[in-house]
Parts: sequence; structure tokens; C-alpha cells
Amino acid sequence: MSFPTESVVVPDVVLRIADGRRVTPVWVNELGGVTFSVAGDAFVKVFPPDHAALLTAEAVRLRWAASFTAVPRVLSTGPGWLHTAALPGRSAVDPHWAARPLEAARAIGSGLRLLHDALPVDRCPFDRPSWVPDDAPAADRLVVCQGDACAPNTLIGDDGRCSGHVDLGDLGVADRWADLAVATMSLAWNFGEAHEEELLDAYGVGPQHGRIAYYRERWAR
Ligand SMILES: Nc1ncnc2c1ncn2[C@@H]1O[C@H](COP(=O)(O)OP(=O)(O)O)[C@@H](O)[C@H]1O
Ligand SMILES: [Mg+2]
Repeated sequence: MSFPTESVVVPDVVLRIADGRRVTPVWVNELGGVTFSVAGDAFVKVFPPDHAALLTAEAVRLRWAASFTAVPRVLSTGPGWLHTAALPGRSAVDPHWAARPLEAARAIGSGLRLLHDALPVDRCPFDRPSWVPDDAPAADRLVVCQGDACAPNTLIGDDGRCSGHVDLGDLGVADRWADLAVATMSLAWNFGEAHEEELLDAYGVGPQHGRIAYYRERWAR
């Protein structure tokens, strides 16, 4: 997962949605999916046919979560593509925040806390994230997890606070450590230094090493 470095072909569906407005590829993932910005006020995520179902799952989760917290509003969707309204803020791995890793770590931690406090477990229609085993240890606290809580999926506003979450295709009910283990792990990948304790402190919890190890190991499979 990274910022695009080579020229990217813009699919027809993106050109149609853009209708002459400026299109910029902003993100390429390991499945061959590409996210395009349309004039800075919308995004279109396009996935290869083999992985199109992931975007169907994401659209339904975004629509559910949007009434509780800041996630992209779905503008339109179809087989293999998802068009959303832009949320304010920059990705936590944008160069602006990569140069301020401690502030980014704190925003990610407090942002996950906001998300977990906002989404109601008892009204969540989705099962656990795909990578979380059904025989996971008894939860420290069961929450609706972001499901893919790596740093690029938290957006941070100019005030240094989380302005929303993206990439909710694996949102589901699980122990909050399913998100916290991945979020803390991804700091080192994205920033080269890990402010894990600061992220957890901003979330409002002390490290639970057994749960962190458990969920990191599951995530890596
Ligand atoms: N609606 C949106 N508002 C703001 N930024 C977005 C939006 N949708 C996508 N992005 C940006 O595009 C990047 C890639 O989108 P994401 O849904 O995370 O795709 P992927 O599944 O490939 O990781 C995000 O990290 C974020 O920076
Ligand atoms: Mg993402």
C-alpha cells in the first residue's frame, strides 16, 4: 500500500464520474486497487474484478456507520468501484503528518477511541472482521472495530485531531485490541519509529501485551 509512483491508467468509470474535473491517483493497494481523487472533493476507489466484493462490503458498512461518526458518504457505487464524498483532513501518512509522527500517533489513538465510543455494538449488523478468529480470547472490551486500523486509514485535520476514518470494508464487532494492535504496529511501518505508548495513552488505555501479540499474529496470516 503506497502513494502511486508510476503513471496509472484512469478507468472509464472514473472519467465518467469526474466529467472533466481533475483526476489524481492518490493510493495504490496490494490487491491492485487504486483510489483516485476527483478535484479534491470526492474519491473513487476502483478494485480489480476478483476483489470487487470488498467494495460492496465497504459501501454497506459506510452507509451504516455514517449515521454515528465521520466516515465517507457514499455518492454512488457499482461493480468494482466506490465513489465517496471527501472528508476533511489528510491521511495520517501524508508527508505533513509523517514529519510529525508523535502528533499523528496521538490523533490515531484518540480517533480510534472516538470511533469505538460512537459505533453501537448492539445495533451493528456486521459480524467480526474477516481476519479475527471466532474463538478469539474473551474481549477486554467488545467494540465495533474499524477492522483495518493501519495509519493511512485515519484522517487528521489541520488542528491535529482525527477528522474521520476511511476504508471500512472489514468493519465488525471484535475486541478493541484488534484495532489497537494493528494501529500500533503500523506506526513503525509508516513512520520508521513507533510511538505505541503515546497512541495507547491518547486512546486511554495501557498496553496489554498478550492481546497485542495475539491480534498482530492473526493480522499477519
Ligand atoms: N472519502 C474520502 N475522503 C478523504 N480521503 C479519502 C476518501 N476516500 C479515500 N481517501 C484517501 O485515499 C486513501 C485510500 O483509500 P482507502 O479506502 O484507504 O483504500 P485502500 O483500501 O486501498 O487502502 C486513504 O488512505 C485516504 O487518504
Ligand atoms: Mg486504506
